[in-house]
This record gives sequence, C-alpha cells and structure tokens, in this order.
Amino acid sequence: MNSFNDPLSIRNGHLYFEDCDVVELAKEFGTPLFVVSERKLVENYHNYHDAFTSRWPEGRVRVMGAIKANPVTAIRRVLTREGCGCDTFGMGELEVALRGGVPTEDIAVNGSIKGREIIRRAIELGIHVVLDSPRELDYCEQEAEKLGKKADIILRLKPYMKDLGDEPSDFFPNRTICDMTQTVKYGIPTSEMLPMVPKIKASQWVNLVGIHTHSGRHSKKAIFWQSLVRNLVVLIKQISDGMGDNWSPHIVSVGGGFAAEHDLESRVAVTDYHSPTVDDYAETVTTTFRDAMKENGLSVDGLLLEVEPGRALHNETGIHLAKVHVVKHETATIDRIWAETDTSEVFLGIGSLNVTPPFKYVVANKADQEATEKIDVVGITCNYECMMEQAPVPQIEPGDIFAFLNTGSYIEPYTCNFNALPRPGMVLVSGYKANWVKRPETLDDVFGRDMVPEHLAGIGPEVKK
Ligand SMILES: Cc1ncc(COP(=O)(O)O)c(C=O)c1O
Repeated sequence: MNSFNDPLSIRNGHLYFEDCDVVELAKEFGTPLFVVSERKLVENYHNYHDAFTSRWPEGRVRVMGAIKANPVTAIRRVLTREGCGCDTFGMGELEVALRGGVPTEDIAVNGSIKGREIIRRAIELGIHVVLDSPRELDYCEQEAEKLGKKADIILRLKPYMKDLGDEPSDFFPNRTICDMTQTVKYGIPTSEMLPMVPKIKASQWVNLVGIHTHSGRHSKKAIFWQSLVRNLVVLIKQISDGMGDNWSPHIVSVGGGFAAEHDLESRVAVTDYHSPTVDDYAETVTTTFRDAMKENGLSVDGLLLEVEPGRALHNETGIHLAKVHVVKHETATIDRIWAETDTSEVFLGIGSLNVTPPFKYVVANKADQEATEKIDVVGITCNYECMMEQAPVPQIEPGDIFAFLNTGSYIEPYTCNFNALPRPGMVLVSGYKANWVKRPETLDDVFGRDMVPEHLAGIGPEVKK
C-alpha cells in the first residue's frame, strides 16, 4: 500500500481524514465525492506565509491564493479567515473572492482579455488591476475617468529568461523554458510595455503601484526562480528609468507555479524529481529579488511581496472518494479483474489508460490490509477509462471505497457532464465535523440550460419528473 501524508491516518482498519472516518463520509454523503481538509488548508497557508514573511523583513508578504485551484466559496472563506489574499481571473473568480469575504485590498484582478466590465468593477471596488495588454491601460483610464476615481494598476511582465539557455520545460521537454515563457499569451509583450510607461506617467487616472509576473510550473529547480526573478528586475529597472523620480514598485508579485510534492501534474511531462521545500523556494525568491533590486539601485523598503500559490496551497488538502459497484473477473481468455467504480476520468482530470496509478490511493475500508492482487480500477462513463491498470490492492468487493489522494487542486473545477452525468459535490472536514460546501449536481442541473425551440415542442410523450 502507498505511504501518504497528513491529515490522513489509519484507525481500526479505516482511513481517516482529520478525525472523520472516510468510510462513514462515503456512506453519509454518497460517492463520488470530493473531500477537503480545513486543517491542512490552514496549515499550508501558514507554512507559505511564514516561509516568506521570515525572509522578507523589508515589508509585508501577502499570499494571494489562486482561486482557480479550488473556486468554492467556503474553501475561500477558510483562507480569508486566516488572512490570505487572492488572485482572480475573470468575473466568476472575482465573484468567488467577494462571496468568500476577501477584503478588496487583498484581491488582484488578473488574467488576459479583460473587458471594460471587470475593469470598471475592480476600480469601483478599489481593487488593483493587473494589466495584460496596452488595451487594458486605455480601458482603465477611460473607466477611471468616468467613475472619477483613480485606478491602481500593476503591470504583468514577461521576463526574458535567456540565461537559462536550453533548459527544457517540464511541460514539453522538447521546448525551452526561455521560449515557452515568451511564446505564452499572458503578460504584456515587452515591446508593447515599454511605450506604455510614459503614458502611465502622464496619466491622471492611473497609479502604477506594482509589478507582476507569473510563469506556469515549468521547473522545480532553483535556477528557474532565480532567472525569473532576476529578469523581472531587469524589466522593473527599465520601467523605473521611464517613470523617473527614483520610482520603485510598492508591490511585486512573483505569481504561482511552485510545485506541490504530491501533485498529479497530469499536464506536466517531467515529474521524476523532487520539489524543493517551501522554505527553500522562499529563500531563493527573496534573496535573488533583494540582491537584484540592490544591484539595480532600486529600493525595497516597505515593498509588499506577493506570491500566488494554487496547487501548492490546495493539492494535499483534498481526497476523492469512489465506491466499487461491480467486480468482474475474466478467466477464459486472460486473467483480469475489473473493479467498476462510480467515479470517472472526467471527474479526476486523468487520461483513459493509466498504466501507473495517477494518484496515491487507499481502499478506505481495508486501509490496513496488504495488497494481494492486481486489478484494473475503472470508471463509470462509456470511455475506455482504465483509471488504474493492474493496481495492487487487497481483495476487492462491491461496496469497497477507493480514496484517491492529493486531489485538492485543479481537479474539481475541471469536472464535466460527459454522459450527462451530474458532477460530484464537495465536503469540508474540520476535525470530527463534515459539511457540504458544494452540493452534488442533480439531473435537473445537468439539463438546466437546455432550451427546446417551439417547432420541436410536443415531440414524443411528455417526460414525467
Ligand atoms: C496569474 C496566476 N497566478 C497564480 C497561478 C497559480 O499557479 P500554480 O497553481 O501553478 O501555483 C496561476 C495559474 O494559472 C495564474 O495564472
């Protein structure tokens, strides 16, 4: 059986998540089910915050949890209660931030292709806008003028990491990090950013408060962060020169992209090396940033340093539960056992044939039993969906509960309604307590947006609900 991390434990043969018996959770709330640990989420936030705060005496540190990793209101409220800010992308995520009680000064409105509506809303609420193109500067100026209220803006930059040479990206090992971080759509192209500086300087409607960058999880190596931060400061220097008056940013965000040790990382090709600790990461980022700012004669006094973890904050906070409904055994042609479960690849963000288990897993009601056989754990849709091929398990029977571990980030938000399946709900465990934080969908939810034009009405017998 696989080893696993806190807040999981085995008690009386059952898997526990915090102080909740996972088998009882499956019984009470049904399966498939996403489950999140409040304690783990709180712990992750404070680890992150403390790692940076203790290394950044120059000013405050604000952890801006990326809402996209788990955009559920109650999950966000846990983080808000602890003092965590947030990075949002688009109107939907801004709404989660507001419903999640995040103070407006702790919200960043990020993302590409922002329209007037979101820019106006951000300015109205006093939220700083992270610009992704020159068009957004125009929108900010125009909307700020209409509102008679100055907009606080941050520029999202694209550091040119050419000192990394041919260092490959873990996403696509035949592409370099340097190339991928330039070819990606996000951020203001440097050639378009530099001419924005005099415009910003002259504007009476925008106030340049900070600088931002975010690169996806291209690498876990220290050299990646060193290069990102050093080359970010190269751009900050150019902006400072353009702004004059010894301009220095009040806020600098180095984005997210820090790996979670147990992440599934289904979109990352190279995963076979370890993540640094959060402390190592914080050390690399803060020392590189401090040194580079000093070398360039830029002040860091009172500078608010922001980090935007998504996967690193949420990944290990979640487990996903599925029940075995049918066990089939072929012996005539080959020797094969299938455990048919009620979850799916479309609820777990995995491919159809998983030769090595994409997750650590535990059979929750047989958590202390040794593996005695190898079976295929398959899903409920009409896809091929072999979620785990020849996975070692104790003897499996209908009713057994599989717990897939470390499913807290970027999994639930990607679920879809393939085969017209209602999507699973989410439960938050807090010690001995467990509460719904997102109810499971019903068939009415699945068909809730369907519309039947008049000429198709009355075809077939009326469907009784
Ligand atoms: C602007 C921004 N910040 C932070 C994140 C979080 O990244 P990660 O989950 O890799 O830490 C993302 C993810 O796409 C992002 O776009």
